[in-house]
Amino acid sequence: MAKTGKDGKVRFGLIGCGEIAMQSLQALKLHPEVCQVSAVQDVNEPLAKDTGEKTGAAVFTDPAKLLERDDVDAVVISTPHFLHAPLTIQAAQAGKHVACEKPIACTLEQADQMIAACKSASVLLTVNYILRYDAPQKKAADLIAQGAIGKVIRFQAHVAADKPESYWSGGYTGRNKSDWRQSKEKSGGGVLIMNLIHDIDRIHKIAGLAPARLYAEYDTHSTPVEVEDNISVTVRYTNGAIGSIDAMSCARGKESFGNRIYGTDGQIELGWPLRVFTTRDVPGLKKNEWNTLELPGKAWGPEPRGEFFERFARAILKGDTACDISGEEARASLAFCLAAYESADKRAPVEF
Ligand SMILES: NC(=O)c1ccc[n+]([C@@H]2O[C@H](COP(=O)([O-])OP(=O)(O)OC[C@H]3O[C@@H](n4cnc5c(N)ncnc54)[C@H](O)[C@@H]3O)[C@@H](O)[C@H]2O)c1
Repeated sequence: MAKTGKDGKVRFGLIGCGEIAMQSLQALKLHPEVCQVSAVQDVNEPLAKDTGEKTGAAVFTDPAKLLERDDVDAVVISTPHFLHAPLTIQAAQAGKHVACEKPIACTLEQADQMIAACKSASVLLTVNYILRYDAPQKKAADLIAQGAIGKVIRFQAHVAADKPESYWSGGYTGRNKSDWRQSKEKSGGGVLIMNLIHDIDRIHKIAGLAPARLYAEYDTHSTPVEVEDNISVTVRYTNGAIGSIDAMSCARGKESFGNRIYGTDGQIELGWPLRVFTTRDVPGLKKNEWNTLELPGKAWGPEPRGEFFERFARAILKGDTACDISGEEARASLAFCLAAYESADKRAPVEF
């Protein structure tokens, strides 16, 4: 029987205390009214101990020991991708709710096993797509829902990152030295599954798009790793819209990022600030000219991550049987990425 917390709080156990776990820790601390960290675990003992010192939580190197604890209601899994499935299944079997880092897993079989394990244990499973909680995302979703740009007919998602050589063995901070990001088997892929998957998840969600068919090309041009550093995907959606998605992790000299959603009656530039053009009468927007909307927060700030944990904790405390970002939705974003890799490998379109 899954637990619903104690004293109005969900007691989290952190599984994986590497780079992103430090951001999750900061985010969890933003909501002490419902979130508490009671235990931490990493196979890398110094990282586990360091995280224990930062939190005052119990420290473990074996996940089974953390999962035995009565004072752990839910876990945050922040490990390399190939470990998401076994650790989620182990946590579900111990009756713990699971907030897993993206992508849900490396394969659809793993994702299905995770979803099934959490269902059968009656625990919640969610996956951390924090862009869903940023202010431009929420505003764009509202505008699209009220018809501000008409019917969505096209979107562009673009990531051109310049990842330094050190990233491939230690991420951006070097907190954990490991080769998992370079390995196709351990990560599932490169810049698409690692980064662009956030953009895919959020645009599909706010524009209500379901892919019908895609074609992709990818390569590893200038990075000594197994995974792709350059990919382009063209997608047709079930509503007829067309998507154009590209990502690089070897854009030397200048990085650029951006999402645009085009409708029959306008377009949205999804960023800080949010920019909107509409040919319709929409309350709060000027018609037939660009509107620049200043919104609170900043890209990749701690607040969206904090809101993700807060809302997950509140769902657990209420005994909800669903949460904001379901395992099934996270599976769909993974299925999209895997279809792109399949298309590029086969040099042929893939139908959904
Ligand atoms: N949501 C986001 O915005 C975001 C951003 C960056 C990374 N991530 C995701 O977070 C996850 C971790 O990435 P990272 O950058 O922190 O990697 P990292 O290598 O810095 O940290 C991973 C940690 O997992 C630990 N680990 C390995 N095996 C373990 C096991 N069996 N049990 C417990 N811990 C184990 C490692 O020792 C390491 O400390 C990945 O899924 C990544 O894609 C998400």
